[in-house]
Amino acid sequence: MPEPTKTATLTFDNKSIELPMHSPSVGPDAVDIRKLYASGDIFTYDPGFTSTASCRSTITYIDGDKGELLYRGYPIEQLADKSSYLECCFLLLYGELPTADQMKEFTTRVTRHTMLHEQVHYFFRGFRRDAHPMATMVGVVGAMSAFYHDSLDINDPWQREVAAIRMIAKMPTIAAMAYKYSIGQPFVYPRNDLNYAENFLHMCFSVPAEPYRVDPVLAKAMDRIFTLHADHEQNASTSTVRLAGSSGANPFACIAAGIACLWGPAHGGANQACLEMLREIGTVDRIPEFIARAKDKDDPFRLMGFGHRVYKNFDPRAKVMKESADEVLDLLGIHDNETLKVAKELEKIALEDAYFVEKKLYPNVDFYSGIILEAMGFPTSMFTPIFALSRTVGWVSQWKEMIADTDQKIGRPRQLYVGAPKRDYVDITKR
Ligand code: SDX
Repeated sequence: MPEPTKTATLTFDNKSIELPMHSPSVGPDAVDIRKLYASGDIFTYDPGFTSTASCRSTITYIDGDKGELLYRGYPIEQLADKSSYLECCFLLLYGELPTADQMKEFTTRVTRHTMLHEQVHYFFRGFRRDAHPMATMVGVVGAMSAFYHDSLDINDPWQREVAAIRMIAKMPTIAAMAYKYSIGQPFVYPRNDLNYAENFLHMCFSVPAEPYRVDPVLAKAMDRIFTLHADHEQNASTSTVRLAGSSGANPFACIAAGIACLWGPAHGGANQACLEMLREIGTVDRIPEFIARAKDKDDPFRLMGFGHRVYKNFDPRAKVMKESADEVLDLLGIHDNETLKVAKELEKIALEDAYFVEKKLYPNVDFYSGIILEAMGFPTSMFTPIFALSRTVGWVSQWKEMIADTDQKIGRPRQLYVGAPKRDYVDITKR
């Protein structure tokens, strides 16, 4: 890290502490508080980390006020329009867009890792058929550390690389197997003649009883959804992967932790919750009732797919997703989709409402994605698994960066203790 360019002075209790400040390539400066406790015997307090940089990173940049998202400096709109998910995987992992030869070699490497150890099929059979696919994915990905012993040593760069490729390559297979298992259909093996998105659709929707043709337009829409979800700075699940990785845990265990965190409805689970909310609203005339509930402090209901910790403007991914929804539904000949109608009207009404305007609440990546995925034939339970498989490249890229960062050490936050001061034990006969 370059030498600090300026200092911040913290004054309290007749003390004055000079703290170095770091300037980023773009975005806010950061006050380096690493020596604060040692020099001032005080902590900072930031539950939810609203003002805390947990690391330095070169991977993804978000400008919440502008509604800007960059993967290694490239705007998400350009990547969604011109690139592919696998090319974005190369970009996120290695920092630059690949040459044609590099892309060919990378694609071959990923393609050749898409199959799972055959024993894992038996692992799936231990689950109930009605298990949520996210429960299955957490379990299976965590169990990968019981199968791939030659890529567990995080101190070996080659093993880190193999683990990263294995995760990116195998997550679609695992997600598709979780889906097939939940509907009682046989697992479908990956095919090396299909591209990444085509292969996923094939493994989800083909059956042995008849040939299955992947619709190239749906595959492109699927690929774009993967790209839009690939990485997003230090979100909750990525921070979970980094924290798990900081203890030296193996990569599969770290990714399983990330999947578990993503599942929450405040995070990646919002795409499922949003579609269920749109279905519950049902028709445009019921929107005011739900807007009122979202604004009611005494009602825990929130508009799912709305709001964001960082974006205080439109989530650029939601804009691309909204355009894609129109395209996919049109292609599928779905013209009067009531859910899309409710979503568009809900967005319009909310964005004209003072509550949402003042709190800068806009649709996020989860607002439209479920409409596309449902139109493509996925059940709502598969929405978050698709988010998880898309985000795997972000998780492994950030995990690799964390391990290589000389600044990093095991994550161990402190606390503001507000519990009982020291006191002596009281015998039960005296209580
Ligand atoms: C993702 O971090 C990432 O980058 C995540 C993600 C990624 O790619 O990894 O972008 C993916 O998780 C997108 C977010 C998906 N979640 C949802 O759509 C669930 C609904 N949204 C929220 O629960 C909420 O907006 C969060 C969790 C997304 C953000 O919450 P924050 O940043 O902690 O904000 P907050 O809860 O402090 O809200 C600020 C105010 C509050 O009102 P006050 O207490 O100030 O009066 O806005 C209100 C909230 O009550 N508010 C909402 C709201 N979201 C926030 N009110 C109604 N509906 C909502 N959706």
